[in-house]
Amino acid sequence: MTRENRKFLTDRTALVTGGGKRIGRTLVSALARAGATVVIHHHASRDDAQATAAGVEVLGGRAFLIDGDLADPRVAAALCGRAGDRCGGALDILVNNASVFAPGDAATTTCEEWDLQQAVNLRAPFLLAQAFARQLAADGPADIINLNDGRALRPGADHFAYTVSKVGLHGLTRSLALALAPRVRVNELALGAVLPPEVPKGGYVRTPREALPLRRFPTPDDVADAMLFLLSTPAVTGQTVSVDSGQHL
Ligand SMILES: NC(=O)c1ccc[n+]([C@@H]2O[C@H](COP(=O)([O-])OP(=O)(O)OC[C@H]3O[C@@H](n4cnc5c(N)ncnc54)[C@H](OP(=O)(O)O)[C@@H]3O)[C@@H](O)[C@H]2O)c1
Repeated sequence: MTRENRKFLTDRTALVTGGGKRIGRTLVSALARAGATVVIHHHASRDDAQATAAGVEVLGGRAFLIDGDLADPRVAAALCGRAGDRCGGALDILVNNASVFAPGDAATTTCEEWDLQQAVNLRAPFLLAQAFARQLAADGPADIINLNDGRALRPGADHFAYTVSKVGLHGLTRSLALALAPRVRVNELALGAVLPPEVPKGGYVRTPREALPLRRFPTPDDVADAMLFLLSTPAVTGQTVSVDSGQHL
């Protein structure tokens, strides 16, 4: 089934981490519109996640909620199993979207800041992928989509621990694509400046629109479209799609 068929994900079940709001919410809605059942993971944003689930139901879709702090490795390792229990079936799409984006340069980043960002942004996607692969049903497609950042391909000196975690996620995407083939395809989206941080902290400077080759900021819907493209292209794995209006160039 292809994307031309709007409901090309009917019979599939997705877990989206950090899916309650912002880009995660748009990914949840896009998956539901394409026919998938969606398990929405949240941590602090329970109300937002409930509103996102209600939005899915308005679309005629099925959504379930699950919470958990992905900084805790036991929580990350158990999340796919709990999500499957919640929706009553195996998952076959995992979207690693949850992330911590904290300022700090190489000179000032603390051990705690380092550990938190490696734990949520890199270790959790690994533990989730491991558990996801274990719980798959006997046959059918299976996909992991990692939400990455253009900084993973072209690191700067800002947001130091975050950037290193996303460089690691780029490696994880490629290694998992080999390790989990042929059963699971693993791809990533490398985003440019889609949404500024909710609470901008020191060190965040949004690239001016005029500096982007396409002179437009990528939107959450652009990110969702790229995710659906990857989910509908069965010969693609280990691939990075930049959704950045050409910023990587
Ligand atoms: N925004 C952009 O322009 C941009 C640019 C480049 C890359 N990206 C990437 O795209 C993805 C989505 O971006 P975004 O800006 O929408 O993300 P975000 O708002 O910074 O974070 C998404 C969610 O991550 C969850 N999260 C944070 N810490 C967690 C923890 N300890 N345990 C569990 N969940 C936790 C939060 O869920 P709760 O709110 O429920 O706590 C949060 O809502 C991220 O992976 C990000 O790195 C975004």
